[in-house]
Amino acid sequence: MPRHALTGRADAPKDSLIMSVTTTIKPQTTSPAATSDGDSKPFRPAPFAEANQQFLVGETLYLRALEPGDGQHPTVWRDSPYPINTDKAEELIKKEIEKPGPGKTVRLLACRRVDDQPVGVATYSTWNWLNGDASVYADPAYGDAAGAYRAEMLGLIVPWLLDERDLMVVWVNVAGNDRALIEAAGAIGMHQATCLREAYWLNGRREDWLTFEGLNRGWEAKLGRPEAGITVGCAPDDPRRRFEGAPSAIFRHPAGDPPKDALMVGDRIFLRAYTPDDARRESTWGRQESETFFDNGRGLHSAHGLERWNRKHMDDDPAGWVRFAIVLKETGEFIGSNGIADIDWVHKTAETESFIPNTAYRGGGYGSEAKHLLLAYSFERLGLHTVRSYVWGPNTRSQAALRKQGYRDAGRFHWTGLKNAEWTHDMSFDLLADEWRERIGGR
Ligand SMILES: CC(C)(COP(=O)(O)OP(=O)(O)OC[C@H]1O[C@@H](n2cnc3c(N)ncnc32)[C@H](O)[C@@H]1OP(=O)(O)O)[C@@H](O)C(=O)NCCC(=O)NCCS
Repeated sequence: MPRHALTGRADAPKDSLIMSVTTTIKPQTTSPAATSDGDSKPFRPAPFAEANQQFLVGETLYLRALEPGDGQHPTVWRDSPYPINTDKAEELIKKEIEKPGPGKTVRLLACRRVDDQPVGVATYSTWNWLNGDASVYADPAYGDAAGAYRAEMLGLIVPWLLDERDLMVVWVNVAGNDRALIEAAGAIGMHQATCLREAYWLNGRREDWLTFEGLNRGWEAKLGRPEAGITVGCAPDDPRRRFEGAPSAIFRHPAGDPPKDALMVGDRIFLRAYTPDDARRESTWGRQESETFFDNGRGLHSAHGLERWNRKHMDDDPAGWVRFAIVLKETGEFIGSNGIADIDWVHKTAETESFIPNTAYRGGGYGSEAKHLLLAYSFERLGLHTVRSYVWGPNTRSQAALRKQGYRDAGRFHWTGLKNAEWTHDMSFDLLADEWRERIGGR
């Protein structure tokens, strides 16, 4: 299953630089906070000067909890290309802040100290209070000042999460052209962990998606500094990378009628939609799992749960996660599934995932054949520009399979989980549509 997806920033200003924050001040058109829930008790967060806030205060900004009433300025805290009005913004804020943890996303509004004007948001989410994702966003309408706001927010939130909230690791996604944020990350001791090439579409250009990692200094002293993922820019190509395992059906259309319900047809297998029957088979195989290096041992998954989970992905149009059953052409037997997860229709990126629960069919090239059908679907049917994949460190077979299929090593995330009482890491991989097309023969 895919690693918990990292959130991308959709609209960082192009070529932003650290500049004086006194430039480009957006006029305040609305009161900073209105009523909390439409009733007779208006709630207004205390202005900075009166609140006596002691921490998360920078030179020009301070961070405070998002409150009902902040729906008045959705462009400041909502990092999304899909506009919403203030009513909808209020609804979302209440839903979000009332949601219980863990796994909850917490947004901290960044306000200017001089006038309490909200200008951006610092966000974090963590499933386990061991590690987590953070992001910083400033309203792009602030122009060059937005870069300085983001840099200042990063310097407040990451050290707080690591040094005070005691997280082991914090990850932050940064666009390759966001020099202000890259400098700010370096200034607080973060290092670049991964580089997904051309994975952002920003202001009419492709930019790399970099992830910076901050490690807790106490844990670093105990465990030692882990091996670097990528030190700067993107990794050079790996000689282990090949382009193999594609069925001949990728190069020329197979003769004869397609198997029933087939969406993509290979030489030995085809892909079709996942059915309740597949869920029953998959749940039985889960109880018979004999390998322990791709996950922490056997999983007792309910067939009903698997079926509902797969069915849920069919509800959205356009889909956010496309899943397929992998089926043997000769016998019609279901052997596994694969999918395209976390599809971003603006950036044209997604994460690929594969799972062959029937152990008899692992290591025989079936997963790679199915993957090339999935790649053809991703690039040619869905029009994606690039795909990525995440693999747990001990799962060397899946890493070998990805390199064989043409994926490139894109770095690693440290201290993501445990295996035999040791901390493990996750590997990151990417593959561009153009590279796949070129190797597959200019289809
Ligand atoms: C990952 C998976 C989908 C790959 O499909 P597959 O059909 O097994 O892959 P392939 O047979 O095409 O390729 C596997 C490659 O790994 C190599 N390999 C096998 N065991 C290995 C090991 N322990 N370490 C390193 N490489 C190994 C094989 O030699 C083969 O390479 P080759 O064809 O060049 O010889 C399948 O093995 C699987 O479902 N595994 C369990 C679930 C899983 O790991 N999912 C991915 C989570 S990220």
